[in-house]
Amino acid sequence: MPEKITFTVNGTSRTVEIEGSEKLIYILREKLNLTGTKRGCDDASCGACVVVVDDEAVKSCTFPAKKLAGKEVLTIEGMANGTNLHPIQRALIDAGAVQCGYCTPGIVMELFALFHRKRDATDDEIKEVLSRHLCRCTGYEAIYDGALLARKYLSEAVDR
Ligand code: FES
Ligand code: FES
Repeated sequence: MPEKITFTVNGTSRTVEIEGSEKLIYILREKLNLTGTKRGCDDASCGACVVVVDDEAVKSCTFPAKKLAGKEVLTIEGMANGTNLHPIQRALIDAGAVQCGYCTPGIVMELFALFHRKRDATDDEIKEVLSRHLCRCTGYEAIYDGALLARKYLSEAVDR
């Protein structure tokens, strides 16, 4: 029997029907048309599908949709403010960390959760969260540089 569940996505309340063992990534991409969240490995090892649920970075490919009731989900679509990119997005672009971009939404959301929890996260803490993400293009150095730049931009930002 399908079950109706209400939760918040990028600040908007949404109600969806959930069936069986559906996962959050399926709800986002197939039921809410939020295709910015990427599907990579589908087994919790690449990080492409990371979104933020109640301030925690989670792998949406394994997060059970049934657990969503009452939760607040933030996806890459909720990061920019109109045409203004979020400082984390700007930093990754400025550092040359976006090539094909497939891994980028998950990394942005991972860094958002980290800096939300700890604006002055250490270099090691940044490395630790980035170690959960695979990227086939950049060699990782630019992503790390982008994360350091994001920390700098966020410390300078007054509106986020
Ligand atoms: S698609 Fe979820 S971790 Fe790879
Ligand atoms: S930029 Fe292509 S997978 Fe990371």
